[in-house]
Amino acid sequence: MDKVLTRNVGVDNSQTIDVYRSRGGYEALRKACRMEPAAIIDEVKASGLRGRGGAGFPCGVKWSFMPKQPSADRPHYLVCNADESEPGTFKDRLIMEEDPHLLIEGCMISARAIQASIAFIYIRGEYVHAARVLERAVAEARAGGFVGRDVLGSGWSCEMIVHRGAGAYICGEETALMDSLEGGRGNPRLKPPFPAQYGVYGMPTTVNNVETLACVPLILERGSDWFKSIGPNERNTGPKLYCMSGHIKRPGVYEAPMGVELSQLIDQYCGGMLHSDRKLKACIPGGSSVPVLTAEECEGLKMDFDSIAERGSMLGSAAVMIMDESTDMVLVMERISHFYAHESCGQCTPCREGTGWIEKILRRMRSGGGRKEDLDLLESVSGHMMGTTICPLADAAAMPCQSFVKKFRHEFEHYVHHGRSVLVAS
Ligand SMILES: Cc1cc2nc3c(=O)[nH]c(=O)nc-3n(C[C@H](O)[C@H](O)[C@H](O)COP(=O)(O)O)c2cc1C
Repeated sequence: MDKVLTRNVGVDNSQTIDVYRSRGGYEALRKACRMEPAAIIDEVKASGLRGRGGAGFPCGVKWSFMPKQPSADRPHYLVCNADESEPGTFKDRLIMEEDPHLLIEGCMISARAIQASIAFIYIRGEYVHAARVLERAVAEARAGGFVGRDVLGSGWSCEMIVHRGAGAYICGEETALMDSLEGGRGNPRLKPPFPAQYGVYGMPTTVNNVETLACVPLILERGSDWFKSIGPNERNTGPKLYCMSGHIKRPGVYEAPMGVELSQLIDQYCGGMLHSDRKLKACIPGGSSVPVLTAEECEGLKMDFDSIAERGSMLGSAAVMIMDESTDMVLVMERISHFYAHESCGQCTPCREGTGWIEKILRRMRSGGGRKEDLDLLESVSGHMMGTTICPLADAAAMPCQSFVKKFRHEFEHYVHHGRSVLVAS
């Protein structure tokens, strides 16, 4: 498949508006400005585009939840979620650093579809370079008439604001993000009301991921049929960015058709396993918050939403972490648990206490003090965290824990009985 989402990556001065326009950029926005908002929504619905931020919700359907018309006291807002904090995920950064105008064009077309008057790009604080590149690009787009008052003479106006977060994983959750954007502490809100009714500053708001929005100009430019033709079926469509890391020769972001086989990603895109004499042991297919898959479960695995769900995990943010047979699974789970204990916002007791408990049990186990009741305790603590909190961060911490213990139980038991990893000789 020819590269489409990353077609400008690596081109000299790809961040500038001149280069972007010389390669066909902003023509899709020009087209969108001549279309009725409802027609843009229909086109995106027909493409089958599903959100690339983690949950895979159909993008056009989400847009259609917005009220039909904004009013003077109920303006509509678009928020681009550029928080990208899920461990192992680094695809949105590539788009923002290398092709910022693609994201800006995607934001503007999407803003027109939902009739937004402001498009916010909420970017994580650590992405200093990406934020600077974006800010420069937004200024260029505004000067060119693609952002701001009377966009391309259409009579429709939409401002764009790049807002830097302070670097908290929870601010990637859409309602915590909105609190943070408003200047408050990033705490998730109870739903309902949903953002389409009560979002930023209480106004109807749509939140979409960077990669989701970057797909939108391609859909308008080439049509929904073209987008749908990429991928295994109508529910899993379009080009996809995969963040490959771990025990592979060439880690990085790779564009491939939705549903590419995992073995193809490893062997053809990433040059194979890091040590060719070591076998695959496990893979986390969608970021640290999704259940781990064993090597057996990875056999013939297609990397799309539904195929991964059939194997009991999720495509999530497509952060694919490859682990070979030298990996200590207890150590990996301990490291993951530290992240969630650190990043829990503390609002809900099951999450605040549960993430801390999981981390403490695993740390004790790893340092040789494991008790035989610890595996049951891990299962019980994580079981009580799921579905009991305002936002899914608790589930994000509990799901990997449950899957690691279930699928690599003997490694945890070995720590309990021998005080060391199964990989370390006595
Ligand atoms: C704890 C947590 C962290 C999240 N972090 C991100 C993130 O960094 N980027 C993102 O796009 N979505 C993130 N999400 C998902 C968002 O809440 C939201 O579903 C997404 O931005 C919607 O965009 P999409 O429909 O285009 O996928 C996170 C969700 C949770 C529960």
